[in-house]
Amino acid sequence: MTSSNESAAGIAHVYRGTFVHATYHTAVEILEDRLLGVDTEGKIAFIGSGKEVDHLSQKWGFEAFAVTQLGQHEFFMPGMVDTHIHASQYSYAGTALDLPLLQWLNMYTFPVEACYKDLEFARNVYTHVVKRTLRNGTTTACYFATIHTDASLLLGQIANDFGQRALVGKVCMDTNNFIPHYKETPEESEGETKRFIGELLKKKYPLVRPVVTPRFAPSCSAALLGHLGEIAQNNDLHIQSHISETKEEVKLVKELFPDYDSYTDVYHRHNLLTDKTVMAHGCHLTDGELKLFRETGASIAHCPNSNISLCSGMLDVRRVLNHKVKLGLGTDVAGGYSPSMLDAVRRTMDTSKALTIQDTQYNTLTFEEVFRLATLGGSQALSLDENTGNFEVGKDFDALRVNTDAAGGPIDLINHGEGPKVEVYVAGKRVVPFVEGP
Ligand code: GUN
Ligand code: FE
Repeated sequence: MTSSNESAAGIAHVYRGTFVHATYHTAVEILEDRLLGVDTEGKIAFIGSGKEVDHLSQKWGFEAFAVTQLGQHEFFMPGMVDTHIHASQYSYAGTALDLPLLQWLNMYTFPVEACYKDLEFARNVYTHVVKRTLRNGTTTACYFATIHTDASLLLGQIANDFGQRALVGKVCMDTNNFIPHYKETPEESEGETKRFIGELLKKKYPLVRPVVTPRFAPSCSAALLGHLGEIAQNNDLHIQSHISETKEEVKLVKELFPDYDSYTDVYHRHNLLTDKTVMAHGCHLTDGELKLFRETGASIAHCPNSNISLCSGMLDVRRVLNHKVKLGLGTDVAGGYSPSMLDAVRRTMDTSKALTIQDTQYNTLTFEEVFRLATLGGSQALSLDENTGNFEVGKDFDALRVNTDAAGGPIDLINHGEGPKVEVYVAGKRVVPFVEGP
């Protein structure tokens, strides 16, 4: 009885209505009156026409009356993918944006991150950031924590408990001239990274994975970068860091690493550029560096709120896409003041339009393209697009159920009177509104 497109698991939910998503060929595809089945493992088992309900219910063994019918003003879209967010910086999001990057790190970021030695402080902030990002529709987040292994493990546990898909990174840094107590020795950093990876993987959280996280080249010795590249390579792990965010930082890296061809070359020669690498920012990369990204399969997390808030630069996303480099969007809390991916979508449009103001011939990003970057593009940038990013049979059902006509929301549907409401699903399970867990 089992045909090739049927999964072994049974059907847990069937939804009928409008589905909006991006595909590899089309930036926005609107599927009207579709029937989508989710199996007991949270995967999309089938997508068919609403008119085929009788046939599909027989084939998949569900009762036609058990189908959840979306309202006229409702639709499903894929959950959004935040490719770069500092969970530890959520405690001061929306403040302290009056200094450029390198001074901002010394004055605000490092002193706050040092507080995560205290596990109760960490638990409080991490619970808030996971709940907030889920409520904002972030079903997948790629997190920086701090140098503290146990607090970073706690972030993994909290993401798991609330049902968020997450890459979690214990930050590695053995250089810090301004706040000397907020750093590790290279041996500690290597050893604690191995402990972090081992303990996180031992938990067997289905949606949470470790990511090797050198903070950025100015915070890491060449020896440490080498150890981290080796750990990632030996365990086939994700890697995240920052690159070419500001011109001052690029100049500093040239001084610190004089024997390398470029900032990108520093990471490349330590085996840190792979098809599971995501580098935040890249505002000031050269064509040659983008070519290296393309060749290695490494991706860029575009964080426009942060880039404007810290006056770092304006990434030319069109140029990155023309180089065929994978690119997703990130909030970069707290360099970015908003933990919302919808804000990241808006700021991406704003930056593209600011580039158009400077050059009227500029090929402005379309809203549809940016929608794709926030969903499928992000999952590709994190090399998670086999599991998530859009509505394809076999992927996990990570989705937002949006009601544009719900009471009290921010959209006035003229003559309808109510506003939007969102339900959030990860791997088929409803995680917002919260069914309070831990
Ligand atoms: N570069 C190194 N560390 C950081 C950080 O915490 N935030 C940002 N925006 N850039 C960085
Ligand atoms: Fe960052």
